[in-house]
Amino acid sequence: MYFLLIFFVIIFVAALITIRNDLRFLKQKQFQAAIDHSRFLRFMEWVFSKYLVWRFWKKLLPIALLIILVLAGITYLYIRYTLPRIPPIPEIVINHQDSSLLKRGEYLAEHVSICVDCHSARNVNYFSWPFVEDQKGSGGPFLSQKLGYTFPGESFTPNITPANLGSWSDGELYRLLTTGIDKDGKTINHAMPFENFSHLDPTDAKAIIAYIRTLPPIKNTPAGITRINFFHDLYNRTIPRDVKPIYLDSLKTAIDSGHYLVTIASCNDCHTPKKWLEINDTTRLLSGGLEFPLPTGGFVHSANLTPDESGLQSWTEETFVKKFKSYLDSGAIYKVSPNSFNSLMPWSDYDAMTEKDLKAIYAYLKSLKPVYNPVVVFTRKSVKKLKTSDQTDDN
Ligand code: HEC
Ligand code: HEC
Repeated sequence: MYFLLIFFVIIFVAALITIRNDLRFLKQKQFQAAIDHSRFLRFMEWVFSKYLVWRFWKKLLPIALLIILVLAGITYLYIRYTLPRIPPIPEIVINHQDSSLLKRGEYLAEHVSICVDCHSARNVNYFSWPFVEDQKGSGGPFLSQKLGYTFPGESFTPNITPANLGSWSDGELYRLLTTGIDKDGKTINHAMPFENFSHLDPTDAKAIIAYIRTLPPIKNTPAGITRINFFHDLYNRTIPRDVKPIYLDSLKTAIDSGHYLVTIASCNDCHTPKKWLEINDTTRLLSGGLEFPLPTGGFVHSANLTPDESGLQSWTEETFVKKFKSYLDSGAIYKVSPNSFNSLMPWSDYDAMTEKDLKAIYAYLKSLKPVYNPVVVFTRKSVKKLKTSDQTDDN
């Protein structure tokens, strides 16, 4: 698309230069009559003498610049002060005594949508960065590019135990989870994956809310200042805030269920390559290769999950399920030595996903478009900055 546009611009400019040279040539040879004879050449001569001269542009350029500046200013003010449109607090009813709802909520919050994983202090010296059990949900870590997240800026995660959320109503929590608008009607940044959670089935969203209200209350106010880069902040404001639930009743096949689970488990955040402003490149869905610096040294790269030979083509359903379940073994979440392989893939949370759900995810991944993208899992140095010749593969 861009290629075509550039192509036409080049042709157009080349044509202008050719015509100009022809006109010059005719004039030098005293062939003014030939020019006068052709309507087209007369027209072009007029264009060249009037508009394609510095005299003309000298006057126009400052005006054009001013117009561009004013338009940019208006766009900025519009986005900064009118977006996003704040949705009303939904009126919802949750039965907090419903034990099956609480059970579902625990499953989702701990093992699928992994709220507790982001919202707890994490032990980055252990494989897959397990969260610190007795600080569960009390918030803390900075999500920042320095720490390995792809998030553009720095953002800390608030305390989501009842010690902090006690004053929030269920409706306010529902709105925050699904649209990223907090209790005071303010925008929170998209490091919190509310875009993914906007697809939660309403009963699942309620189950999560019911469950986090039962977390042991821990008094903790993570001290941190959220800094989000200028353009990302503007982008964050333009994200539509409507809730787009995928209803569990509408999930007919294993592929449908797998798609739902992959969405609410945020697999795309780490496994789909990004375009400008960290937006998912959907033409390369889940094809991996994102680089994350590890606090213990080295770099880990997310795997290609598409059914390509450079991805999961040779994996059977059994291999896939076993891989997740292998992290339940004692010793699988070991202490890593510096500069050796570690992963921020939250294996220690996902390992308790049910076999049925893992099989559904497998079915969905198998249905994806295969994308060729060989990935070296662990490198000592950043591959982004390295030439392939001195790449070190320690795994
Ligand atoms: C990828 C990490 C991540 C995951 C997963 C995540 N959150 Fe968050 N959450 C954040 C960040 C970061 C913020 C703060 C954003 C800001 O300050 O602008 C946040 C904010 C919140 C807040 C606002 C609290 C306050 O005091 O303002 C609540 C409530 C919350 N998350 C609940 C949840 C729940 C429930 C889940 C699981 C369904 C979840 N989060 C999953 C990163 C995450
Ligand atoms: C926070 C980032 C992150 C999230 C979220 C994440 N992954 Fe990963 N994943 C990685 C990284 C990094 C690796 C490579 C290192 C490793 O194998 O642990 C990886 C590896 C894998 C592998 C191993 C592939 C192989 O060749 O060994 C599978 C399978 C996988 N992820 C599936 C998933 C699925 C399914 C989800 C969502 C339920 C998911 N991941 C969510 C970061 C993530």
